[in-house]
Amino acid sequence: MSDRLDLTGKEIGQAQSALESALSGISDAGLELVADFDLRALLPDLQEKKWGLFNWFPLEDGPACWRVALTPLEPGHTPRSFGELYGYDHKRCDDLFILVETAAQGGDEAGVKKGFDEFLLGMTHHFAMEEEVFFPAFEQATGMTQGPTMMMRMEHQQMRGLFTQMEEAVSKGDVEGISRITSTLMVIMRQHNIKEEQMLYRMGDMHLSQECESLLRRAQAL
Ligand SMILES: [Fe+2]
Ligand SMILES: [Fe+2]
Repeated sequence: MSDRLDLTGKEIGQAQSALESALSGISDAGLELVADFDLRALLPDLQEKKWGLFNWFPLEDGPACWRVALTPLEPGHTPRSFGELYGYDHKRCDDLFILVETAAQGGDEAGVKKGFDEFLLGMTHHFAMEEEVFFPAFEQATGMTQGPTMMMRMEHQQMRGLFTQMEEAVSKGDVEGISRITSTLMVIMRQHNIKEEQMLYRMGDMHLSQECESLLRRAQAL
């Protein structure tokens, strides 16, 4: 279980200092940041001072509350790569997905709702990191615009359709429906992630080694 740092009511400067001292004692489980302002305001400074030491993923994205998961990385993650950061996020979203599935199987409606919100935000952020940053850079570097990225975009659309169905089932409290959709989604997600990890990210890391870090910083801030 990660520690929690509540930055509600703090000015940016105060929040930066509070974060800096919390990071010096961070546990392996990481730190959950909570605030009543968009926590992205803290990201440029954190990237500047601590790049390669932490992963940053949104858990809740306003309008009243923002939460971010900060997890420490093993030393030696510099230079960073697409395979490493995006692959880590696949694993993280898989874990969130399993929480939803387990809650659905146990008939835990409140657990399903909370887990699904975090899972949906995680997947939306992950797709944005690919569609807005990685895929365009990959296409430009390789000249392949009708190839694997087109296929991956189509699969994202297919998954978005299932997210919508899941959202409807969650809002109705239809846990059986959720279980049915998660089974289909799991198969598609697994196959999709394997293709990206075994082929696309590796090619991206080869072709984009020069600009990789600046692209990853941009992706993280989405
Ligand atoms: Fe993808
Ligand atoms: Fe992915």
